[in-house]
Amino acid sequence: MQRLRNFLQQHCSDNGLIEVIDQIATISKDIAHLIQLGDLAGVLGSAGQENVQGENQKKLDVIANDLLKDGLAALPSIKGLASEEETLPVGCNPDGRYLVLFDPLDGSSNIDINVTVGTIFSILAAPAELDGGDERAFLQPGKQQLAAGYVLYGPSTLLVLTTGNGVFSFTLDSRVGEYLLQRENIRVDTKTAEFAINMSNQRFWKPAMQNYVADLLRGEEGPLGKRYNMRWVASMVAEIHRILTRGGVFMYPWDSREPKKPGKLRLMYEANPMSLLMEQAGGKGSTSTESILSVQPLGIHDRVSVVIGSAEEVATVERYHEA
Ligand code: AHG
Ligand code: MN
Ligand code: MN
Ligand code: MN
Repeated sequence: MQRLRNFLQQHCSDNGLIEVIDQIATISKDIAHLIQLGDLAGVLGSAGQENVQGENQKKLDVIANDLLKDGLAALPSIKGLASEEETLPVGCNPDGRYLVLFDPLDGSSNIDINVTVGTIFSILAAPAELDGGDERAFLQPGKQQLAAGYVLYGPSTLLVLTTGNGVFSFTLDSRVGEYLLQRENIRVDTKTAEFAINMSNQRFWKPAMQNYVADLLRGEEGPLGKRYNMRWVASMVAEIHRILTRGGVFMYPWDSREPKKPGKLRLMYEANPMSLLMEQAGGKGSTSTESILSVQPLGIHDRVSVVIGSAEEVATVERYHEA
C-alpha cells in the first residue's frame, strides 16, 4: 500500500505544500499516541482555563494545540498559524508561503469518555504583503483553500485529505508509523436518508430548520417521502467521516440562545475544511442560504451555520430556507 509521502509526491506538484501536509501527519501521530495512552499519559480532564471561544479547555485541547503550533512553526515554509485555541494568529517565518489554520482537537467533549475525536486543518496561500501574525492575511473565503483535511482518532487513526483534486484517505499503521493509502477519489452519495443534528436544541432553531427536521421525523408519511435514520457522535470529524463513507447530512444551525452568532461551529477551523472535502467528494457545504466556501470571513474566529453532506439533501435544506 502506498505511503502518504509517496502519494503526495505523485499527486501534488507543490513541494512546499507536501512538506506542510507531511508535517501535520507527523504531528498527528504524536497526538494519536497520547490519545491511545489516555489516562496513562495523564492527558484526560480539564485544563482549568477558557479559550477565546468561551469554552472550557480540556488538557488535550491544549496539548494538541501546542504540538501543532510548535511543529508547524518550525517549518520554514509556514508564515502564520491560526487555531481555535489561540486568541491571536501566530506569526512564523516571514518568508513562508503558507498559512495553516486548525482545530487541534475536535469533539473534545468526547475525550474523557473514550469516543472518537479528531484534528481538522486548512491550508491557505500567505499573501506576500501581510505579516503572518496579521489577522487580515487569513481572511480568505474557503474556496481559496489549497488543501484541507482531518485526522480521525477512532478505532483506527485515519487521515482524510484533499489538495483540490479529489478526496483520499489513509490509515495509520502504528506498527510501522506510516499512513497508508486506504480509499482513493472518495465520492459521497448525492441522496441520503440519514441525518445528524443535536436534537436537544430543536426549540431554539429557526422555523425553517424546525420544519425541515419535523418533516424528516415524519418519514415516509411526510413530504420527503422516506424514513430517515439519525446519528449524533458530537464530534464533527466523526460525523463528516460517516457521511463521506455512507452519505448523510450534518447540521449545526443558528440558535436563538446566541442570536448574534450565526452558529456554533467555526468557519475557518471547521466549516471551511469540511466543506472543501465534501465538495471535492461531490457533496455540498451550505450555511442553509449560501455556499460556505463563498463566505467572506471578517475575523479568524467567525462562526457559521452549517449544513454539510449529500448534495440533494443539502439542497432540500436550502429550499426550506428560501423566502
Ligand atoms: P470542539 O470540540 O472543537 O470545540 O468542537 C465541538 C463541536 C463539533 O465537533 C461537534 O459537532 C459539536 O461541537 C458538538 O456539539 P454538542 O455539544 O452540541 O453536541
Ligand atoms: Mn472547542
Ligand atoms: Mn471542533
Ligand atoms: Mn477543538
